[in-house]
Amino acid sequence: MKEISIQSVVHVYSGIGELPEADQELINAAIGARLHAYAPYSHFFVGAAVLLDDGTIVLGNNQENVAYPSGLCAERTALFAAGANFPGKAVLKIAIAASSNDFEVNNPVYPCGACRQVMSEYEQLSKRPMEILMYGASGEVHVVNGLINILPVAFNADNLKRR
Ligand code: THU
Repeated sequence: MKEISIQSVVHVYSGIGELPEADQELINAAIGARLHAYAPYSHFFVGAAVLLDDGTIVLGNNQENVAYPSGLCAERTALFAAGANFPGKAVLKIAIAASSNDFEVNNPVYPCGACRQVMSEYEQLSKRPMEILMYGASGEVHVVNGLINILPVAFNADNLKRR
């Protein structure tokens, strides 16, 4: 038996103001996108902003449904919109921001497992690590450079190939 040890690196910024200017813009785009979230059931409003390699920013937000599992998270809404409207363009970064009417969101929101899986595939297609910037409505911004930090040992397309 041997053991493998997996390490994640998370960059913690004390607030949006500590980020490089371009990243502040991306977080602000996610905050803007949050305004149009459709979240009448959870009251948890999430915005996502995807930066493509030509500088285009694609926005998404969570879209809920009375049949709860039919809804979709902000991250996947944004990434699928990017895939649908800008096919072949590499994804460089995704910023996430969240807020609620019911309580304060002063911790960064980390993406759910399903969104991480989708991010992982777009990262592979983009042939470079995807930077993920995570924010709530106030407080710290957490940044990771690459899905490896939040979805290590991911299932990917190579697993479907015969060797
Ligand atoms: N949600 C997101 O959009 N992104 C996340 O990273 C976490 C959760 C949404 C899904 C649902 O509409 C609401 O937040 C509560 O889970």
